[in-house]
Amino acid sequence: MAAIQFTDRGSAVNRTLTSAVLAALDAPSMLNTQPWQWRIAGDRAELRADRRRQLPALDPDGRLMTLSCGVALHHARVALGAAGAGVDVTHLPDADEPDLLAVLRYTGSVPKTGNAERLRRAISVRRSDRRPFLDVAVPAPALDRMRAAAEAAGAHLHLVNPAEVTAVVVAAGHAADVERADPAYRADLAAWVHTDDGSGTGVPPATTEPNGARTVPIRSFTGRDTDASVYDAPEVADRFARYAVVVTDHDTPRDWLAAGEALSAVLLTATAEGLATSPMSDMVEIVAARETLRRAIGNVGHPAIVVRIGVPGRGDTGPRSPRRAASDAVEIVEG
Ligand SMILES: Cc1cc2nc3c(=O)[nH]c(=O)nc-3n(C[C@H](O)[C@H](O)[C@H](O)COP(=O)(O)O)c2cc1C
Repeated sequence: MAAIQFTDRGSAVNRTLTSAVLAALDAPSMLNTQPWQWRIAGDRAELRADRRRQLPALDPDGRLMTLSCGVALHHARVALGAAGAGVDVTHLPDADEPDLLAVLRYTGSVPKTGNAERLRRAISVRRSDRRPFLDVAVPAPALDRMRAAAEAAGAHLHLVNPAEVTAVVVAAGHAADVERADPAYRADLAAWVHTDDGSGTGVPPATTEPNGARTVPIRSFTGRDTDASVYDAPEVADRFARYAVVVTDHDTPRDWLAAGEALSAVLLTATAEGLATSPMSDMVEIVAARETLRRAIGNVGHPAIVVRIGVPGRGDTGPRSPRRAASDAVEIVEG
């Protein structure tokens, strides 16, 4: 990540906002597109969606792009909280500029909380871990804390219960079938799944997993069919994984942003608990699959994204995905 140079004129507030925004560049995003642009001016940090990074086939209305920006927004808020910096956050402040998703304005110092510091540390170690999880149950108190974190961030977290898993599998299978048959989907994957090409974006193949039999199949980043079936495979991975759905009351850009903030809260809380996670959005990309998911979890609200949660199989956090140069994603206006 290219360093950002401060000049002597950079104020303390400007520096605080900048270091929080730099931490937020580690946020996860759809196919690692990092569809955000930050601008820091005086005591304000502005977050904009970067439409050039929207996925035309996978995300035609920009829902998952906005959600990814919501994750980055929450990461920045966590980093500010851990630095003892108070901010006022205005979501979608200007109807004439819909891509201006949020403005954070520094309001003064606030007491640091232990939880903010824990979540701040989690930002640096969190990864999307697609490797099979251990056959060890996810502790219920940790799941309760994730649910509370999502709620505090403005959305709900529905923990999929055993009776609902079959419908989630159906939704995932349907999404995979529809997407694999769509050349435009395969073009989105081809554009963003690659070894680091210097852009600092995209999903490196080293972070993906071969298609094995799983309780709920994960996205195939090759765009090919899975060759393993839960019926004939000797071993089915993720038998103890939990699946959680971030749900919003409505389905507007404001809700997509809130869903992203809640996703961030869930992922960072899980990481701080020593758990591994990977987001799964294929089920919400295809209208019929999203509807199946919605019905499966009680026909209430709008499923925004699914999170796979489990006990990590290995001690290491797994391979890291690249990030754009900070100087490309952040503009600093001094004064
Ligand atoms: C909105 C959104 C949707 C995502 N969808 C998927 C998915 O369907 N399958 C998957 O394996 N990872 C998914 N991810 C994880 C991203 O691929 C991952 O965040 C990105 O490649 C960066 O890697 P990192 O999370 O390890 O930093 C998603 C992430 C976000 C924020």
